[in-house]
Amino acid sequence: MRNRRNIAAGLLIAVCGLLCACGEQKTEDPGKNYIGVAYYNQSDTFLNELLDSFREQLKELQGEGAETVVMVRDAAGSQRTQDDQVKELISAGCDVLCVNLVDRADPSEIIDMARENDVPIIFFNREPVAEDLMQWDGLYYVGAEAEESGAMQGELAADLIRTDSQVDRNKDGKIQYVILEGEVGHQDAIIRTETVVETLTSQGIELEKLSYQVANWNRAQAENRMEQLIGQYHNQIELVLANNDDMALGAIDAYKSLNYTESALPVFFGIDGTDAGLQAVKDSELAGTVYNDKEGQAGAMARISVALLTGEGMDEIEFQNERCVYLPYDKVTKGNVSEFLFRSR
Ligand code: BGC
Ligand code: CA
Repeated sequence: MRNRRNIAAGLLIAVCGLLCACGEQKTEDPGKNYIGVAYYNQSDTFLNELLDSFREQLKELQGEGAETVVMVRDAAGSQRTQDDQVKELISAGCDVLCVNLVDRADPSEIIDMARENDVPIIFFNREPVAEDLMQWDGLYYVGAEAEESGAMQGELAADLIRTDSQVDRNKDGKIQYVILEGEVGHQDAIIRTETVVETLTSQGIELEKLSYQVANWNRAQAENRMEQLIGQYHNQIELVLANNDDMALGAIDAYKSLNYTESALPVFFGIDGTDAGLQAVKDSELAGTVYNDKEGQAGAMARISVALLTGEGMDEIEFQNERCVYLPYDKVTKGNVSEFLFRSR
């Protein structure tokens, strides 16, 4: 890889005058390492927090005077844009790529470009199918097991329903619930929705489904969907299960803007433990969340990146299925939220 880079650097320097004049291409400095990060959408709260942590941990791992430049690109929800961005990052001389796919079912173009140029890819958060990941041994994945998060959210909700008789507000022995879902086709949306319901049911909680609404992980969309649901179901909703914290917070926003009093509110559960999510647990607005370990995921990405750059330390990383790292989730309630507020920087 190093040879390839030096040759590429030489070529880039040779044509620098021309390219710099156009202002379109970055010139690689042969003394520096370049990591290209491509992510699906810069409006995503969880991913922005994860990437902040990635930059910090990379700096810590490499120590003072590290010569690694991180180049970040936002695909604004378009896989075609992301394909172009990856191409640009490769020709700018990136040695490693971290890719958060827009469409997790469509990584072939990116994989082909990376393989042709011998630039390894660490996919993160949006999991390619195993078949794609096995196409080349320069591919890795860092994320978490969606099933675990759905199960933990279900356990948190079941615990509260069993201990607090107020949750079943109409006292019919059933919990009337709605689910706010992430993007269609995202592993975390499909699997969290399925497992949270299975878990509640297997814990003996009687449920009555009112509605499932897609709000694409987004707080404003969730507020909007929730306003419609409140218009339709009024006080019937007792439990709001959201596939992530931003959507749970959007649901709370909807009740706030309709001036609901606290005693008329359902209980809300999220997933992620974003800064705002943890704060809402602390303030008793969210009954609980499930910590999606962004520091752990960012740390694994940083360690794999450094191992790829230096050729050292890869054997110390524990992979599952040869090239995947899955970080465990954790349950968060008001009782233990301070531990997580401290962890999340
Ligand atoms: C997180 C969401 C985030 C999504 C982006 C999920 O794992 O829980 O908050 O929007 O990933 O892909
Ligand atoms: Ca009820």
